[in-house]
Amino acid sequence: MFVIAILMQIVMCNAHTCLIDKTQAVCRYLELTSVPQDLPKDIKFLDISYNNLTVITSSELSEYKSLRTLLMNDNNLDLLQCDAFHGLSLLVELSLAKNNLHVSRSYPNGVFKPLINLSKLDISQNMKKSTNFSVNYTIPVDELNHLNKLSIDLVHQPYFGKHFREMRGLNVLIFDFCLVELLTNKTFMYMPNNVSHLFLNTCRHFVVIETNALFYFNNLNTLDFSGSNIHLARALDALYPFQNRKIDNVLFRGITYPELGHDVDIVLTKDMMKYIKSMCVQTLDFSNNLIVKILNESLLSLDHPECLQNLLLSANRFSLDNFATDFFKFLHRAKVLKLVDYSYIPIAYNQPVFLEINGNNYRKLLEVDKYYGTKIIPFVRFPSHLEYVRFSHIMATTGMKEIILANSSLRHLEISYFKTYIFPKFTLEGTNELTYLDISGISAETTIGKFPVLQHLKILVMKTTQLYKLLWNNTNIFNWAPNLTSLDLSYNYIWRIKDATLGNLPHLRNLNLSHNMFNVIPNVLMTFKYLVSLDLSINQLTNIPKNIREWADLQQEKRQFNFFLNKNPYICSCDTIEFLFWTSKTNVKLDRNGNYLCWLPIKNGKSRYMHNILKYFHDYFGQCKAKMWLQIGTALLTFTMCALIISTLVYNFRWRIIFFFYRTFRRFVERRLDVMFKYDVYVSYSDDSVAFLKLLSGVIEEDWGFKMCCQDRNFTVGAPSADERVKHIHCSRDIIFLVTPSINENEWIHFEIERAKYEKMTKYLQKIVVITKGISLADIQSEFATIWQEVLFIEWPTEEEEKAKAWQKLKLWLF
Ligand SMILES: *[C@@H]1O[C@H](CO)[C@@H](O)[C@H](O)[C@H]1NC(C)=O
Ligand SMILES: *[C@@H]1O[C@H](CO)[C@@H](O)[C@H](O)[C@H]1NC(C)=O
Ligand SMILES: *[C@@H]1O[C@H](CO)[C@@H](O)[C@H](O)[C@H]1NC(C)=O
Ligand SMILES: *[C@@H]1O[C@H](CO)[C@@H](O)[C@H](O)[C@H]1NC(C)=O
Ligand SMILES: *[C@@H]1O[C@H](CO)[C@@H](O)[C@H](O)[C@H]1NC(C)=O
Ligand SMILES: *[C@@H]1O[C@H](CO)[C@@H](O)[C@H](O)[C@H]1NC(C)=O
Ligand SMILES: *[C@@H]1O[C@H](CO)[C@@H](O)[C@H](O)[C@H]1NC(C)=O
Ligand SMILES: *[C@@H]1O[C@H](CO)[C@@H](O)[C@H](O)[C@H]1NC(C)=O
Ligand SMILES: *[C@@H]1O[C@H](CO)[C@@H](O)[C@H](O)[C@H]1NC(C)=O
Ligand SMILES: *[C@@H]1O[C@H](CO)[C@@H](O)[C@H](O)[C@H]1NC(C)=O
Ligand SMILES: *[C@@H]1O[C@H](CO)[C@@H](O)[C@H](O)[C@H]1NC(C)=O
Repeated sequence: MFVIAILMQIVMCNAHTCLIDKTQAVCRYLELTSVPQDLPKDIKFLDISYNNLTVITSSELSEYKSLRTLLMNDNNLDLLQCDAFHGLSLLVELSLAKNNLHVSRSYPNGVFKPLINLSKLDISQNMKKSTNFSVNYTIPVDELNHLNKLSIDLVHQPYFGKHFREMRGLNVLIFDFCLVELLTNKTFMYMPNNVSHLFLNTCRHFVVIETNALFYFNNLNTLDFSGSNIHLARALDALYPFQNRKIDNVLFRGITYPELGHDVDIVLTKDMMKYIKSMCVQTLDFSNNLIVKILNESLLSLDHPECLQNLLLSANRFSLDNFATDFFKFLHRAKVLKLVDYSYIPIAYNQPVFLEINGNNYRKLLEVDKYYGTKIIPFVRFPSHLEYVRFSHIMATTGMKEIILANSSLRHLEISYFKTYIFPKFTLEGTNELTYLDISGISAETTIGKFPVLQHLKILVMKTTQLYKLLWNNTNIFNWAPNLTSLDLSYNYIWRIKDATLGNLPHLRNLNLSHNMFNVIPNVLMTFKYLVSLDLSINQLTNIPKNIREWADLQQEKRQFNFFLNKNPYICSCDTIEFLFWTSKTNVKLDRNGNYLCWLPIKNGKSRYMHNILKYFHDYFGQCKAKMWLQIGTALLTFTMCALIISTLVYNFRWRIIFFFYRTFRRFVERRLDVMFKYDVYVSYSDDSVAFLKLLSGVIEEDWGFKMCCQDRNFTVGAPSADERVKHIHCSRDIIFLVTPSINENEWIHFEIERAKYEKMTKYLQKIVVITKGISLADIQSEFATIWQEVLFIEWPTEEEEKAKAWQKLKLWLF
């Protein structure tokens, strides 16, 4: 990037001159040590970021009187001379971020005087060093009467003088590089009282906030502490001055940090909620705060639920156990609630996606998950005012039988990646507006037949749903969504689609079939007339046959057609030359520009990119003569047949094949399926099984050569135990539960069972083996009830002879 930027500038202008476009000048990466004086005098936008300026001297900029925007980020500025901004009365935005300007030394009095029209000032990321003495912010901000938005650093011991109050128009205050550890009742005493948005997102050290510290922000509307190390309890205490007031956004995402590797568990109590209770809040974000429990009279007892529009609780650890009914009642009381996000619960999922609330627009970011107990709720009536609901990545034994949408405004519903006993049946009453539905990660066998006809549904996402199971003997499986325009069926292990299975989807425009196991493209796809995008990447295609190519060209003629075909095991031989040519000459918009990797039987089975092959075409295919055609054709046919048979076998008998070819072949399959495991087997055990564990590890690791993961050896010391378990179970292929009489004292057993269940469901190559020793089957049935059907079970014998058999059995299973 750097180099290109520099080169471009050198090529397009002369060295040390800037890119000029109308009234804009960009002078980045030119190692400038002063402001260029030869730019057009009427420029309105000047960017001199990434240079070597150390000081802005008097009147250096005064020629450029029309400037509205001046950016001088990423230089080495440490001083501004008095007249630095002389003449810039029209300047609206000034940015001096990432320099070395010191809030008490670098800004002489009067330096901002000429900037009568300045509205945005960014001087953040300048106070890089942490000092432990008080820093007096003498920067003459009182000269900036029209300033609206200020970004500034918050040093370890800040002192803001009375002159800060003079920024009467200041609305948005952003503290960056936050090194502060204590915010006292007096810290913000002289802050202008018109500030409506306060951001404090980067405080790295634990911040203590005295209860009245925010008192002087009389007109606060958005309080965003997200990401700072504050702790939810303290942040809630800091709301003391806002009791009985209206604050639109209280954004406390991820403000509770584990201390020295220990879990911090937050139980949300009535006492913690005592200040926020009386407030009128529109958006409440408590995501990612290690909340393990929500007590009665806390969250659900807000005095003004009618203010609430967006509620985000994702990535915590509390369960809906006895709470679900009250929770849904609460959703009804919240009359204007539009967005509910309750996902990634109860334990740290690897990369949660959070929703970003920005005014009333939500945008996807990163989020977390959650867990709950066994209970069936007969039905839930969604409040009609809800518009956006996400219940995703939840581990639950609680289930709902029915969800009723009555005259619902719901547009977006994600109810994905969780396993319950039952998947709710959806019932419509009156009108509905549902356009987006995501039911990924839940077996299609569970969800089929659960939806009424959803006429407005445009986008349906069904990733990882084992849909292949439905494609054999069902027809018209999407007849409940007649108006679909986008359908995502990736990661479904589909290798064949019969003509009538998908049914007639007359409006379908985007179809995603990537990460499946197709070795031929099903003809039925050609019946979707309006298709503009088809994704068949990461499948098992070896060639794109003529009829498909012609169809694709035809689609392209009618309208733009995007065809994704990357990462298939293509074969380039005399027989598939036409496909090879097609990739380079078709007008269809191919991913990777049609330059796919391709296997060459001719060159002893090397793989090359197609564009490369085309370039040296004659070297590869010069001898494609009649005689050769036959030979290669035969060879190719055999190969294709083999590939076909193998993938069919892999699909149908993958376990048995894996057994026969075990390790080598399995690695291959895993790679194809995009799953790589770090360990072969995770072993869950209790204290009294340590001796048996040693024996097991001897056999499994030394004799059979597997990698085994066990808590005492492989967990990172000090890391939160739940997270470690999640992580290690996730990267193990199989699980063994060693069940011994002390199982009841093992507090983690249920957690691990739930995790095993979750992983079993989201991934394929995993077995759950239960080995009991000294305890009878009946005693543990309740523990394993939820996964009983999926368990391979060995009651460890006492007889030597029997033991040999048990080992044999285990070996069979694990291979
Ligand atoms: C400008 O700064 C860069 C990096 O800070 C340095 O490598 C370069 O030598 C400097 N150039 C001049 C002319 O000082
Ligand atoms: C500030 O800028 C606005 C719009 O650019 C202009 O209308 C106004 O006159 C300027 N104010 C001063 C004091 O220059
Ligand atoms: C300031 O920091 C230095 C080193 O960082 C430390 O030695 C000193 O005790 C600190 N002083 C105070 C008053 O905390
Ligand atoms: C901060 O600086 C101002 C102006 O130099 C001075 O009047 C004031 O006493 C200083 N305050 C502190 C707490 O150092
Ligand atoms: C404070 O903000 C309000 C509304 O945002 C505005 O009407 C008022 O003029 C501002 N006060 C000052 C002194 O700028
Ligand atoms: C800060 O203000 C609160 C509320 O007025 C008061 O209870 C508390 O004692 C004050 N803290 C300090 C250290 O003065
Ligand atoms: C909390 O509320 C539930 C249901 O409203 C009730 O069953 C339970 O006893 C309450 N718990 C406490 C500690 O008050
Ligand atoms: C839905 O709205 C219609 C018209 O406003 C009304 O007649 C009907 O009773 C409503 N249905 C439900 C279930 O609320
Ligand atoms: C959806 O399909 C139905 C027929 O099943 C049709 O009557 C309706 O007009 C369609 N709605 C939209 C929004 O396309
Ligand atoms: C489809 O086949 C499976 C087994 O192959 C069977 O369990 C299921 O009942 C069949 N479904 C229908 C609708 O025939
Ligand atoms: C299809 O789905 C895969 C996996 O979910 C995704 O990576 C890809 O971007 C999707 N393709 C299109 C065209 O959106």
